[in-house]
Amino acid sequence: MDFIEVIKKRRTIRDFENKSIPNSIIEYAIENAFKAPTYNHLREWDFIIIHSLKSKLKLIESEDLDKVVDIKELEIRFKNEESIMKEMYLDAIPKQKKMILDAPLVVIVVYKPKTKLEHVKRIYDLNCLASVWACIENFLLSLAEHDVYGVTFIPQNNEIIKEKLEIPGELEIASIIPIGYKANTAKILTQKAIDITKRIHNEKW
Ligand SMILES: Cc1cc2nc3c(=O)[nH]c(=O)nc-3n(C[C@H](O)[C@H](O)[C@H](O)COP(=O)(O)O)c2cc1C
Repeated sequence: MDFIEVIKKRRTIRDFENKSIPNSIIEYAIENAFKAPTYNHLREWDFIIIHSLKSKLKLIESEDLDKVVDIKELEIRFKNEESIMKEMYLDAIPKQKKMILDAPLVVIVVYKPKTKLEHVKRIYDLNCLASVWACIENFLLSLAEHDVYGVTFIPQNNEIIKEKLEIPGELEIASIIPIGYKANTAKILTQKAIDITKRIHNEKW
């Protein structure tokens, strides 16, 4: 597939078809993920693949996603936000639990931090996080090439998840990514149109 087609195809999907993904597609995407640039040349990343309802429920419980989402309250919360962003939150927030439950696979991307979070002082200390996100983008692009889509969910209760999934203490969770084929009902939200001529600055800002 042409590079530009893959770039355009990679979009966030939160509604998945009940159809399993061949292992070869996952392995291909992980292989490509490991080709991403990395701050220390070591590519200290791991992928935890979750199939079972039992493990998915551990994530849902850890992140407290069982709460009923009040759409009216969301509308009030985001009423003054840019419409494109409001549309995204109103679609996304009610689906956080369902997307984990319905995805045929949930992939957790784990990385080795350079500096403990509580000691981060400079952007430089976050090079490990920047690198793992380059890895995640390669992963998502490779999946898109095979019509498999994902949504990058960022957990808030990392230590609880690490304990439940026996992730070594020195590692950190970058993202929890439910992946799967697009459901017929899946929404692809409008991307904000960017006039790049306004975003390119010559010599100085
Ligand atoms: C760092 C980061 C955090 C995100 N967190 C979440 C999240 O917690 N839940 C969710 O449903 N989507 C999450 N997303 C997905 C974004 O909502 C999505 O990428 C954005 O709306 C742009 O849409 P697109 O990916 O289709 O271009 C996250 C994306 C990024 C890059």
